[in-house]
Amino acid sequence: MDAKQQVVQALAQALPDVDAHDIETKIERPKDSQNGDFAFPTFFLAKTQHKAPQMIAADLIEAIDQNGFEKVVVAGPYVNFFLDKGQIAAEILQAILADPENYGNSDLGNAGNVPIDMSSPNIAKPMSMGHLRSTVIGNSLAKILTKVNYNPIKINHLGDWGTQFGKLMAAYKMWGSEEEVKADPINTLQKYYVRFHQEDKENPELDDDARAWFKKLEDGDEEATHLWKWFRSESLKLFMKIYDLLGIDFDSYNGEAFYNDKMDEVVQMLEDKGLLQESKGAEIVDLEKYNLNPALIKKTDGATLYITRDLAAAIYRKRTYDFVQSLYVVGNEQQNHFKQLKAVLKELGFDWADDIHHIPFGLITQGGRKLSTREGRVILLENVLNDAISLARKQIAEKNPDLKNAEEVAQQVGVGAVVFHDLKNERLNNFDFDLEEVVRFEGETGPYVQYAHARSQSILRKAGNPDLTTANLALGDPAAWEIIKSLGQFGEIIQRAAREYEPSVIAKYALQLAKEFNQYYAHTKILVEDDEKMARLALVEAVSDVLKSALELLGVQAPDEM
Ligand code: ARG
Repeated sequence: MDAKQQVVQALAQALPDVDAHDIETKIERPKDSQNGDFAFPTFFLAKTQHKAPQMIAADLIEAIDQNGFEKVVVAGPYVNFFLDKGQIAAEILQAILADPENYGNSDLGNAGNVPIDMSSPNIAKPMSMGHLRSTVIGNSLAKILTKVNYNPIKINHLGDWGTQFGKLMAAYKMWGSEEEVKADPINTLQKYYVRFHQEDKENPELDDDARAWFKKLEDGDEEATHLWKWFRSESLKLFMKIYDLLGIDFDSYNGEAFYNDKMDEVVQMLEDKGLLQESKGAEIVDLEKYNLNPALIKKTDGATLYITRDLAAAIYRKRTYDFVQSLYVVGNEQQNHFKQLKAVLKELGFDWADDIHHIPFGLITQGGRKLSTREGRVILLENVLNDAISLARKQIAEKNPDLKNAEEVAQQVGVGAVVFHDLKNERLNNFDFDLEEVVRFEGETGPYVQYAHARSQSILRKAGNPDLTTANLALGDPAAWEIIKSLGQFGEIIQRAAREYEPSVIAKYALQLAKEFNQYYAHTKILVEDDEKMARLALVEAVSDVLKSALELLGVQAPDEM
Protein backbone atom coordinates (compact mmCIF):
# COMPACT_ATOMS: atom_id res chain seq x y z
CA MET A 1 0.00 0.00 0.00
CA ASP A 2 1.01 3.54 -0.69
CA ALA A 3 2.49 5.13 2.45
CA LYS A 4 0.04 8.03 2.53
CA GLN A 5 -2.93 5.68 2.28
CA GLN A 6 -1.57 3.81 5.26
CA VAL A 7 -1.72 7.04 7.28
CA VAL A 8 -5.20 7.85 5.97
CA GLN A 9 -6.43 4.40 6.96
CA ALA A 10 -4.99 4.59 10.47
CA LEU A 11 -6.61 7.99 11.00
CA ALA A 12 -9.93 6.97 9.47
CA GLN A 13 -10.18 4.04 11.88
CA ALA A 14 -9.55 6.33 14.82
CA LEU A 15 -11.95 8.99 13.52
CA PRO A 16 -15.04 7.07 12.32
CA ASP A 17 -17.18 10.24 12.14
CA VAL A 18 -14.83 12.12 9.83
CA ASP A 19 -14.85 11.69 6.07
CA ALA A 20 -11.75 9.82 4.87
CA HIS A 21 -11.38 12.20 1.97
CA ASP A 22 -11.29 15.19 4.37
CA ILE A 23 -8.60 13.42 6.34
CA GLU A 24 -6.56 12.84 3.23
CA THR A 25 -6.65 16.46 2.11
CA LYS A 26 -5.46 17.66 5.54
CA ILE A 27 -2.38 15.43 5.71
CA GLU A 28 0.90 17.31 5.30
CA ARG A 29 4.44 16.27 4.50
CA PRO A 30 6.73 18.00 7.04
CA LYS A 31 9.72 19.74 5.49
CA ASP A 32 11.97 18.59 8.31
CA SER A 33 12.04 14.80 8.66
CA GLN A 34 12.48 15.35 12.44
CA ASN A 35 8.74 15.96 12.42
CA GLY A 36 7.98 12.65 10.79
CA ASP A 37 7.10 11.60 7.26
CA PHE A 38 3.49 12.75 7.52
CA ALA A 39 1.74 15.18 9.88
CA PHE A 40 -1.95 15.48 10.66
CA PRO A 41 -3.19 18.88 11.97
CA THR A 42 -6.24 18.66 14.22
CA PHE A 43 -7.45 22.28 14.11
CA PHE A 44 -10.32 21.56 11.74
CA LEU A 45 -11.84 19.13 14.26
CA ALA A 46 -11.94 21.61 17.17
CA LYS A 47 -15.39 22.97 16.31
CA THR A 48 -17.20 19.65 15.96
CA GLN A 49 -15.42 17.98 18.87
CA HIS A 50 -15.63 21.02 21.19
CA LYS A 51 -12.06 20.44 22.33
CA ALA A 52 -8.73 22.22 22.00
CA PRO A 53 -6.62 20.84 19.11
CA GLN A 54 -3.88 19.80 21.57
CA MET A 55 -6.44 17.68 23.43
CA ILE A 56 -7.75 16.16 20.24
CA ALA A 57 -4.21 15.16 19.18
CA ALA A 58 -3.50 13.66 22.61
CA ASP A 59 -6.72 11.60 22.52
CA LEU A 60 -6.25 10.62 18.93
CA ILE A 61 -2.92 9.01 19.53
CA GLU A 62 -4.49 6.63 22.05
CA ALA A 63 -7.01 5.53 19.42
CA ILE A 64 -4.61 5.04 16.52
CA ASP A 65 -3.39 1.56 15.68
CA GLN A 66 0.37 2.12 15.49
CA ASN A 67 1.09 -1.16 13.79
CA GLY A 68 3.12 -0.68 10.63
CA PHE A 69 4.64 2.60 11.80
CA GLU A 70 7.97 3.18 13.42
CA LYS A 71 6.18 5.54 15.80
CA VAL A 72 3.29 7.97 16.03
CA VAL A 73 3.76 11.00 18.31
CA VAL A 74 1.92 14.12 19.43
CA ALA A 75 3.51 17.50 18.70
CA GLY A 76 1.13 20.15 20.09
CA PRO A 77 -1.93 20.18 17.83
CA TYR A 78 -0.31 17.77 15.35
CA VAL A 79 -0.06 14.01 15.18
CA ASN A 80 3.21 13.07 13.48
CA PHE A 81 3.67 9.75 11.72
CA PHE A 82 7.06 8.10 11.30
CA LEU A 83 6.96 5.35 8.72
CA ASP A 84 8.45 1.96 9.36
CA LYS A 85 11.38 2.51 7.04
CA GLY A 86 12.48 -1.08 6.92
CA GLN A 87 9.07 -2.27 5.82
CA ILE A 88 8.71 0.42 3.17
CA ALA A 89 12.21 -0.24 1.88
CA ALA A 90 11.37 -3.91 1.56
CA GLU A 91 8.16 -3.20 -0.36
CA ILE A 92 9.81 -0.82 -2.84
CA LEU A 93 12.93 -2.91 -3.41
CA GLN A 94 10.83 -6.02 -3.83
CA ALA A 95 8.64 -4.33 -6.45
CA ILE A 96 11.66 -3.15 -8.47
CA LEU A 97 13.64 -6.39 -8.32
CA ALA A 98 10.64 -8.53 -9.19
CA ASP A 99 9.98 -6.73 -12.49
CA PRO A 100 12.48 -3.97 -13.22
CA GLU A 101 11.28 -3.27 -16.75
CA ASN A 102 7.70 -2.58 -15.74
CA TYR A 103 8.42 -0.76 -12.49
CA GLY A 104 6.80 2.68 -12.56
CA ASN A 105 4.18 1.72 -15.18
CA SER A 106 0.65 3.01 -14.84
CA ASP A 107 -2.49 3.39 -16.91
CA LEU A 108 -3.30 6.98 -17.73
CA GLY A 109 -3.77 6.30 -21.41
CA ASN A 110 -6.07 3.32 -21.69
CA ALA A 111 -4.08 2.22 -24.77
CA GLY A 112 -5.25 5.27 -26.74
CA ASN A 113 -3.42 6.19 -29.96
CA VAL A 114 -1.21 9.28 -29.94
CA PRO A 115 0.47 10.27 -33.21
CA ILE A 116 3.62 12.27 -32.50
CA ASP A 117 4.79 14.51 -35.32
CA MET A 118 8.54 14.73 -34.68
CA SER A 119 11.92 15.43 -36.26
CA SER A 120 10.44 16.40 -39.66
CA PRO A 121 13.59 17.88 -41.24
CA ASN A 122 13.54 19.52 -44.64
CA ILE A 123 14.82 17.70 -47.68
CA ALA A 124 17.89 19.18 -49.35
CA LYS A 125 18.87 21.00 -46.21
CA PRO A 126 21.08 19.73 -43.44
CA MET A 127 19.33 18.49 -40.33
CA SER A 128 19.82 21.27 -37.80
CA MET A 129 20.12 21.36 -34.04
CA GLY A 130 16.48 22.42 -33.94
CA HIS A 131 15.51 19.17 -35.63
CA LEU A 132 17.66 17.35 -33.11
CA ARG A 133 15.52 18.83 -30.36
CA SER A 134 12.32 17.73 -32.03
CA THR A 135 13.73 14.26 -32.65
CA VAL A 136 14.95 13.56 -29.13
CA ILE A 137 12.02 15.23 -27.35
CA GLY A 138 9.55 13.35 -29.54
CA ASN A 139 11.35 10.06 -29.06
CA SER A 140 11.43 10.51 -25.28
CA LEU A 141 7.75 11.49 -25.14
CA ALA A 142 6.90 8.34 -27.09
CA LYS A 143 8.71 6.23 -24.49
CA ILE A 144 7.18 8.11 -21.54
CA LEU A 145 3.68 7.82 -22.98
CA THR A 146 4.20 4.09 -23.51
CA LYS A 147 4.99 3.71 -19.77
CA VAL A 148 1.62 5.23 -18.88
CA ASN A 149 -0.18 3.06 -21.43
CA TYR A 150 -0.71 5.25 -24.45
CA ASN A 151 0.12 3.93 -27.90
CA PRO A 152 2.38 6.50 -29.58
CA ILE A 153 2.86 6.58 -33.37
CA LYS A 154 6.07 8.34 -34.39
CA ILE A 155 5.57 10.30 -37.59
CA ASN A 156 8.37 12.00 -39.52
CA HIS A 157 6.50 14.73 -41.40
CA LEU A 158 9.38 15.31 -43.82
CA GLY A 159 9.59 18.75 -45.38
CA ASP A 160 9.65 17.26 -48.85
CA TRP A 161 7.39 19.78 -50.53
CA GLY A 162 7.17 23.54 -50.78
CA THR A 163 8.63 26.60 -52.40
CA GLN A 164 12.14 25.78 -51.20
CA PHE A 165 12.24 23.08 -53.88
CA GLY A 166 11.59 25.74 -56.46
CA LYS A 167 14.59 27.65 -55.15
CA LEU A 168 16.77 24.59 -55.15
CA MET A 169 15.80 23.63 -58.69
CA ALA A 170 16.31 27.15 -59.96
CA ALA A 171 19.73 27.20 -58.29
CA TYR A 172 20.64 23.78 -59.64
CA LYS A 173 19.67 24.73 -63.17
CA MET A 174 21.78 27.89 -62.98
CA TRP A 175 24.93 26.71 -61.27
CA GLY A 176 24.59 23.01 -60.60
CA SER A 177 26.37 20.01 -61.97
CA GLU A 178 25.24 16.43 -61.62
CA GLU A 179 28.75 15.17 -60.84
CA GLU A 180 29.21 17.72 -58.09
CA VAL A 181 25.92 16.75 -56.42
CA LYS A 182 26.68 13.04 -56.71
CA ALA A 183 30.07 13.45 -55.10
CA ASP A 184 28.76 15.21 -51.99
CA PRO A 185 24.97 15.60 -52.14
CA ILE A 186 23.89 17.50 -49.07
CA ASN A 187 26.82 19.88 -48.88
CA THR A 188 26.50 20.67 -52.54
CA LEU A 189 22.74 21.20 -52.42
CA GLN A 190 23.23 23.29 -49.31
CA LYS A 191 25.83 25.35 -51.16
CA TYR A 192 23.41 26.01 -54.03
CA TYR A 193 20.71 26.97 -51.56
CA VAL A 194 22.94 29.37 -49.65
CA ARG A 195 24.13 30.92 -52.92
CA PHE A 196 20.54 31.34 -54.07
CA HIS A 197 19.73 33.26 -50.92
CA GLN A 198 22.79 35.45 -51.26
CA GLU A 199 22.13 36.28 -54.88
CA ASP A 200 18.40 36.85 -54.64
CA LYS A 201 19.07 39.75 -52.29
CA GLU A 202 20.63 41.58 -55.25
CA ASN A 203 18.55 39.97 -57.92
CA PRO A 204 14.88 39.51 -56.96
CA GLU A 205 13.93 37.95 -60.34
CA LEU A 206 15.49 34.76 -59.02
CA ASP A 207 12.44 34.40 -56.79
CA ASP A 208 10.13 34.38 -59.83
CA ASP A 209 12.24 31.66 -61.35
CA ALA A 210 11.97 29.64 -58.13
CA ARG A 211 8.21 30.09 -58.01
CA ALA A 212 7.92 28.89 -61.58
CA TRP A 213 9.89 25.74 -60.77
CA PHE A 214 7.75 24.94 -57.78
CA LYS A 215 4.62 25.40 -59.88
CA LYS A 216 6.07 22.93 -62.41
CA LEU A 217 6.65 20.48 -59.61
CA GLU A 218 3.08 20.82 -58.36
CA ASP A 219 1.82 20.30 -61.92
CA GLY A 220 3.77 17.06 -62.23
CA ASP A 221 6.35 18.26 -64.76
CA GLU A 222 8.73 15.41 -65.58
CA GLU A 223 12.06 17.14 -65.10
CA ALA A 224 10.95 18.81 -61.88
CA THR A 225 9.64 15.52 -60.50
CA HIS A 226 12.84 13.73 -61.40
CA LEU A 227 14.99 16.33 -59.63
CA TRP A 228 12.68 16.27 -56.61
CA LYS A 229 12.94 12.49 -56.26
CA TRP A 230 16.69 12.62 -56.59
CA PHE A 231 17.15 15.37 -53.96
CA ARG A 232 14.76 13.57 -51.62
CA SER A 233 16.47 10.19 -51.73
CA GLU A 234 19.94 11.69 -51.27
CA SER A 235 18.75 13.66 -48.24
CA LEU A 236 16.97 10.73 -46.67
CA LYS A 237 20.14 8.64 -46.81
CA LEU A 238 21.92 11.20 -44.69
CA PHE A 239 19.04 11.61 -42.23
CA MET A 240 18.98 7.84 -41.76
CA LYS A 241 22.63 7.87 -40.73
CA ILE A 242 21.80 10.32 -37.97
CA TYR A 243 18.72 8.41 -36.82
CA ASP A 244 20.84 5.25 -36.66
CA LEU A 245 23.41 7.04 -34.56
CA LEU A 246 20.66 8.20 -32.19
CA GLY A 247 18.99 4.76 -32.18
CA ILE A 248 15.67 6.30 -33.23
CA ASP A 249 13.16 4.97 -35.73
CA PHE A 250 9.76 6.07 -36.99
CA ASP A 251 6.43 4.42 -37.66
CA SER A 252 5.78 6.64 -40.67
CA TYR A 253 7.78 8.81 -43.07
CA ASN A 254 4.70 10.37 -44.66
CA GLY A 255 6.02 13.84 -45.37
CA GLU A 256 4.32 16.87 -46.85
CA ALA A 257 4.30 15.43 -50.37
CA PHE A 258 2.19 12.52 -49.15
CA TYR A 259 -0.74 14.91 -48.83
CA ASN A 260 -0.61 16.27 -52.38
CA ASP A 261 -3.65 14.27 -53.46
CA LYS A 262 -5.47 14.90 -50.18
CA MET A 263 -5.67 18.68 -50.29
CA ASP A 264 -8.46 19.09 -52.83
CA GLU A 265 -10.83 17.51 -50.34
CA VAL A 266 -9.78 19.98 -47.66
CA VAL A 267 -10.24 22.94 -49.96
CA GLN A 268 -13.64 21.56 -50.93
CA MET A 269 -14.68 21.22 -47.28
CA LEU A 270 -13.64 24.80 -46.62
CA GLU A 271 -15.61 25.92 -49.62
CA ASP A 272 -18.72 23.95 -48.64
CA LYS A 273 -18.67 25.54 -45.22
CA GLY A 274 -18.31 28.96 -46.82
CA LEU A 275 -15.03 29.54 -45.05
CA LEU A 276 -12.86 30.40 -48.05
CA GLN A 277 -12.48 34.06 -48.94
CA GLU A 278 -10.63 35.71 -51.73
CA SER A 279 -8.00 38.20 -50.81
CA LYS A 280 -5.85 39.77 -53.53
CA GLY A 281 -6.29 36.69 -55.68
CA ALA A 282 -5.32 34.28 -52.90
CA GLU A 283 -7.68 32.05 -50.91
CA ILE A 284 -7.75 32.58 -47.17
CA VAL A 285 -9.71 31.61 -44.07
CA ASP A 286 -10.47 34.56 -41.83
CA LEU A 287 -9.57 33.87 -38.20
CA GLU A 288 -10.28 37.24 -36.68
CA LYS A 289 -12.60 35.81 -34.04
CA TYR A 290 -9.64 33.76 -32.78
CA ASN A 291 -7.49 36.87 -32.77
CA LEU A 292 -5.27 35.30 -35.41
CA ASN A 293 -4.05 36.33 -38.84
CA PRO A 294 -5.93 34.77 -41.73
CA ALA A 295 -4.76 31.29 -42.79
CA LEU A 296 -3.43 31.40 -46.35
CA ILE A 297 -4.74 28.25 -48.06
CA LYS A 298 -3.89 28.88 -51.72
CA LYS A 299 -1.59 31.40 -53.28
CA THR A 300 -2.49 33.61 -56.24
CA ASP A 301 -0.96 31.07 -58.65
CA GLY A 302 -2.95 28.24 -57.06
CA ALA A 303 0.04 26.77 -55.18
CA THR A 304 -0.84 25.20 -51.84
CA LEU A 305 0.89 26.02 -48.61
CA TYR A 306 2.42 24.47 -45.51
CA ILE A 307 -0.83 24.88 -43.57
CA THR A 308 -2.93 23.35 -46.37
CA ARG A 309 -0.79 20.23 -46.16
CA ASP A 310 -1.03 20.23 -42.37
CA LEU A 311 -4.83 20.42 -42.52
CA ALA A 312 -4.88 17.39 -44.81
CA ALA A 313 -2.40 15.61 -42.51
CA ALA A 314 -4.43 16.31 -39.35
CA ILE A 315 -7.60 14.92 -40.93
CA TYR A 316 -5.73 11.93 -42.33
CA ARG A 317 -4.32 11.14 -38.87
CA LYS A 318 -7.72 11.35 -37.20
CA ARG A 319 -9.17 8.95 -39.78
CA THR A 320 -6.22 6.57 -39.74
CA TYR A 321 -5.47 6.42 -36.01
CA ASP A 322 -8.64 7.70 -34.35
CA PHE A 323 -6.29 9.41 -31.91
CA VAL A 324 -7.05 10.49 -28.34
CA GLN A 325 -4.36 13.16 -28.64
CA SER A 326 -2.27 14.32 -31.58
CA LEU A 327 1.10 15.90 -30.78
CA TYR A 328 3.39 18.13 -32.83
CA VAL A 329 6.90 18.52 -31.45
CA VAL A 330 7.93 21.65 -33.30
CA GLY A 331 9.88 24.78 -32.34
CA ASN A 332 8.21 27.60 -30.48
CA GLU A 333 8.55 29.89 -33.49
CA GLN A 334 5.74 27.95 -35.18
CA GLN A 335 3.25 28.66 -32.42
CA ASN A 336 1.06 30.77 -34.65
CA HIS A 337 0.95 28.14 -37.34
CA PHE A 338 -0.45 25.56 -34.95
CA LYS A 339 -2.95 28.00 -33.48
CA GLN A 340 -4.18 28.66 -37.00
CA LEU A 341 -4.27 24.95 -37.78
CA LYS A 342 -6.45 24.24 -34.76
CA ALA A 343 -8.67 27.22 -35.43
CA VAL A 344 -9.36 26.20 -39.04
CA LEU A 345 -10.16 22.63 -37.93
CA LYS A 346 -12.53 24.05 -35.33
CA GLU A 347 -14.21 26.15 -38.00
CA LEU A 348 -14.63 22.99 -40.05
CA GLY A 349 -16.60 21.60 -37.11
CA PHE A 350 -14.05 19.06 -35.89
CA ASP A 351 -14.31 18.85 -32.09
CA TRP A 352 -11.17 16.78 -32.00
CA ALA A 353 -9.21 19.94 -32.83
CA ASP A 354 -9.02 20.28 -29.01
CA ASP A 355 -7.00 17.05 -28.85
CA ILE A 356 -4.25 18.56 -31.00
CA HIS A 357 -1.34 19.82 -28.95
CA HIS A 358 1.62 21.76 -30.22
CA ILE A 359 4.59 20.78 -28.02
CA PRO A 360 6.91 23.75 -28.55
CA PHE A 361 10.54 24.01 -27.56
CA GLY A 362 13.18 26.74 -27.33
CA LEU A 363 16.26 27.44 -29.40
CA ILE A 364 19.76 26.09 -29.15
CA THR A 365 22.20 28.98 -29.20
CA GLN A 366 25.95 29.08 -29.46
CA GLY A 367 27.78 31.78 -27.59
CA GLY A 368 24.32 33.29 -27.07
CA ARG A 369 23.68 33.54 -30.83
CA LYS A 370 20.82 31.96 -32.67
CA LEU A 371 21.75 29.41 -35.33
CA SER A 372 20.35 29.83 -38.81
CA THR A 373 20.43 27.47 -41.79
CA ARG A 374 19.88 30.18 -44.32
CA GLU A 375 23.17 31.94 -43.86
CA GLY A 376 24.94 28.65 -43.54
CA ARG A 377 25.73 29.46 -39.92
CA VAL A 378 24.66 26.12 -38.60
CA ILE A 379 26.18 23.41 -36.50
CA LEU A 380 25.74 20.24 -38.42
CA LEU A 381 24.16 17.64 -36.26
CA GLU A 382 26.25 14.79 -37.56
CA ASN A 383 29.45 16.70 -36.77
CA VAL A 384 28.23 17.45 -33.26
CA LEU A 385 27.48 13.80 -32.59
CA ASN A 386 30.81 12.68 -34.02
CA ASP A 387 32.71 15.30 -32.01
CA ALA A 388 30.90 14.19 -28.87
CA ILE A 389 31.87 10.59 -29.55
CA SER A 390 35.54 11.58 -30.01
CA LEU A 391 35.54 13.47 -26.73
CA ALA A 392 33.94 10.53 -24.94
CA ARG A 393 36.53 8.20 -26.51
CA LYS A 394 39.32 10.38 -25.12
CA GLN A 395 37.82 10.44 -21.61
CA ILE A 396 37.30 6.70 -21.57
CA ALA A 397 40.88 6.09 -22.71
CA GLU A 398 42.06 8.10 -19.69
CA LYS A 399 39.69 6.68 -17.10
CA ASN A 400 39.38 3.08 -18.17
CA PRO A 401 42.15 2.18 -20.65
CA ASP A 402 41.40 -1.56 -20.45
CA LEU A 403 37.71 -1.30 -21.33
CA LYS A 404 36.96 -4.03 -23.86
CA ASN A 405 34.14 -2.59 -25.98
CA ALA A 406 35.53 0.94 -25.69
CA GLU A 407 34.33 2.04 -29.12
CA GLU A 408 30.74 0.99 -28.50
CA VAL A 409 30.75 2.68 -25.09
CA ALA A 410 32.27 5.87 -26.55
CA GLN A 411 29.34 6.01 -28.93
CA GLN A 412 26.79 5.42 -26.15
CA VAL A 413 28.40 8.06 -23.96
CA GLY A 414 28.99 10.66 -26.68
CA VAL A 415 25.52 10.42 -28.20
CA GLY A 416 23.92 10.00 -24.78
CA ALA A 417 25.62 13.18 -23.59
CA VAL A 418 24.20 15.28 -26.42
CA VAL A 419 20.72 13.81 -25.98
CA PHE A 420 20.74 14.18 -22.19
CA HIS A 421 21.95 17.78 -22.39
CA ASP A 422 19.02 18.60 -24.60
CA LEU A 423 16.43 16.85 -22.46
CA LYS A 424 17.53 18.06 -19.03
CA ASN A 425 16.49 21.59 -20.02
CA GLU A 426 12.83 22.42 -19.70
CA ARG A 427 11.67 22.19 -23.23
CA LEU A 428 10.68 25.83 -23.66
CA ASN A 429 13.97 27.25 -22.43
CA ASN A 430 16.64 28.32 -24.88
CA PHE A 431 20.02 26.87 -24.06
CA ASP A 432 23.59 27.24 -25.11
CA PHE A 433 25.56 24.41 -26.59
CA ASP A 434 29.14 23.90 -25.47
CA LEU A 435 30.43 20.48 -26.39
CA GLU A 436 33.12 20.22 -23.68
CA GLU A 437 30.49 20.96 -21.05
CA VAL A 438 28.05 18.45 -22.49
CA VAL A 439 30.41 15.48 -22.39
CA ARG A 440 31.84 16.02 -18.90
CA PHE A 441 31.69 13.08 -16.49
CA GLU A 442 30.84 15.38 -13.56
CA GLY A 443 28.12 17.93 -13.08
CA GLU A 444 24.62 17.69 -14.45
CA THR A 445 25.43 15.60 -17.49
CA GLY A 446 24.36 12.37 -19.13
CA PRO A 447 27.77 10.75 -18.58
CA TYR A 448 27.42 11.51 -14.85
CA VAL A 449 24.21 9.46 -14.68
CA GLN A 450 25.63 6.74 -16.93
CA TYR A 451 28.68 6.62 -14.68
CA ALA A 452 26.55 6.15 -11.54
CA HIS A 453 24.79 3.29 -13.30
CA ALA A 454 28.10 1.70 -14.36
CA ARG A 455 29.38 2.05 -10.80
CA SER A 456 26.32 0.26 -9.41
CA GLN A 457 26.91 -2.54 -11.90
CA SER A 458 30.54 -2.80 -10.87
CA ILE A 459 29.53 -3.16 -7.20
CA LEU A 460 27.16 -5.97 -8.10
CA ARG A 461 29.88 -7.69 -10.13
CA LYS A 462 32.28 -7.40 -7.21
CA ALA A 463 29.67 -9.02 -4.96
CA GLY A 464 29.38 -11.89 -7.45
CA ASN A 465 25.92 -10.88 -8.74
CA PRO A 466 24.06 -12.70 -5.95
CA ASP A 467 20.37 -13.63 -6.24
CA LEU A 468 18.66 -11.00 -4.11
CA THR A 469 15.01 -11.89 -4.64
CA THR A 470 14.86 -14.10 -1.56
CA ALA A 471 16.92 -11.83 0.71
CA ASN A 472 15.48 -9.90 3.65
CA LEU A 473 15.08 -6.45 2.08
CA ALA A 474 14.03 -4.53 5.22
CA LEU A 475 16.86 -2.02 4.92
CA GLY A 476 16.69 0.16 8.04
CA ASP A 477 19.87 2.17 7.44
CA PRO A 478 18.85 5.87 7.65
CA ALA A 479 21.57 6.74 5.12
CA ALA A 480 19.59 4.83 2.49
CA TRP A 481 16.25 6.51 3.23
CA GLU A 482 16.48 9.36 0.71
CA ILE A 483 17.27 6.87 -2.04
CA ILE A 484 14.37 4.63 -1.04
CA LYS A 485 12.00 7.58 -1.12
CA SER A 486 13.27 8.61 -4.57
CA LEU A 487 12.89 5.07 -5.88
CA GLY A 488 9.33 5.01 -4.58
CA GLN A 489 8.50 8.18 -6.53
CA PHE A 490 9.47 6.89 -9.98
CA GLY A 491 5.89 6.15 -11.07
CA GLU A 492 4.63 9.61 -10.02
CA ILE A 493 7.56 11.23 -11.81
CA ILE A 494 6.77 9.42 -15.07
CA GLN A 495 3.12 10.46 -14.81
CA ARG A 496 4.11 14.07 -14.30
CA ALA A 497 6.46 13.96 -17.29
CA ALA A 498 3.62 12.49 -19.37
CA ARG A 499 1.04 15.05 -18.27
CA GLU A 500 3.38 17.98 -18.87
CA TYR A 501 4.99 16.51 -22.01
CA GLU A 502 8.24 17.26 -20.25
CA PRO A 503 11.18 14.81 -20.48
CA SER A 504 13.25 17.16 -18.29
CA VAL A 505 11.25 15.87 -15.32
CA ILE A 506 12.80 12.44 -15.92
CA ALA A 507 16.29 13.85 -16.58
CA LYS A 508 16.23 15.85 -13.33
CA TYR A 509 15.01 12.82 -11.44
CA ALA A 510 17.83 10.70 -12.87
CA LEU A 511 20.40 13.33 -11.87
CA GLN A 512 19.02 13.46 -8.33
CA LEU A 513 18.95 9.70 -7.92
CA ALA A 514 22.51 9.42 -9.28
CA LYS A 515 23.65 12.11 -6.85
CA GLU A 516 21.95 10.47 -3.87
CA PHE A 517 23.50 7.17 -4.82
CA ASN A 518 27.00 8.67 -5.14
CA GLN A 519 26.65 10.26 -1.70
CA TYR A 520 25.49 6.99 -0.19
CA TYR A 521 28.33 5.12 -1.86
CA ALA A 522 30.88 7.64 -0.53
CA HIS A 523 29.78 7.12 3.09
CA THR A 524 28.62 3.52 3.29
CA LYS A 525 30.63 0.32 3.05
CA ILE A 526 28.25 -1.66 0.94
CA LEU A 527 30.12 -4.94 0.82
CA VAL A 528 30.93 -5.21 4.54
CA GLU A 529 29.62 -8.52 5.99
CA ASP A 530 26.68 -7.78 8.30
CA ASP A 531 22.92 -8.40 8.53
CA GLU A 532 22.01 -5.76 6.00
CA LYS A 533 24.56 -6.59 3.30
CA MET A 534 22.03 -8.31 1.04
CA ALA A 535 19.51 -5.51 1.54
CA ARG A 536 22.18 -2.95 0.64
CA LEU A 537 23.03 -4.88 -2.51
CA ALA A 538 19.34 -4.99 -3.35
CA LEU A 539 19.32 -1.22 -3.00
CA VAL A 540 22.26 -0.99 -5.39
CA GLU A 541 20.51 -3.22 -7.88
CA ALA A 542 17.27 -1.24 -7.59
CA VAL A 543 19.13 2.03 -8.18
CA SER A 544 20.84 0.45 -11.15
CA ASP A 545 17.52 -0.72 -12.62
CA VAL A 546 15.76 2.59 -12.12
CA LEU A 547 18.67 4.68 -13.48
CA LYS A 548 18.75 2.47 -16.55
CA SER A 549 15.00 2.77 -16.94
CA ALA A 550 15.10 6.56 -16.57
CA LEU A 551 17.90 6.87 -19.15
CA GLU A 552 15.98 4.54 -21.44
CA LEU A 553 12.97 6.89 -21.20
CA LEU A 554 15.21 9.66 -22.47
CA GLY A 555 16.56 7.52 -25.30
CA VAL A 556 20.00 7.29 -23.65
CA GLN A 557 21.80 3.98 -23.25
CA ALA A 558 23.29 2.75 -19.98
CA PRO A 559 26.54 0.82 -20.50
CA ASP A 560 27.48 -1.60 -17.71
CA GLU A 561 31.06 -0.41 -17.76
CA MET A 562 32.64 2.84 -18.87
N1 ARG B 1 9.66 20.75 -41.71
C1 ARG B 1 9.26 21.73 -40.75
C2 ARG B 1 10.46 22.58 -40.33
O1 ARG B 1 11.58 22.12 -40.38
C3 ARG B 1 8.66 21.12 -39.52
C4 ARG B 1 7.41 20.33 -39.73
C5 ARG B 1 6.65 20.12 -38.47
N2 ARG B 1 5.48 19.34 -38.61
C6 ARG B 1 4.31 19.76 -39.12
N3 ARG B 1 3.33 18.90 -39.22
N4 ARG B 1 4.13 21.01 -39.48
O2 ARG B 1 10.27 23.71 -39.93
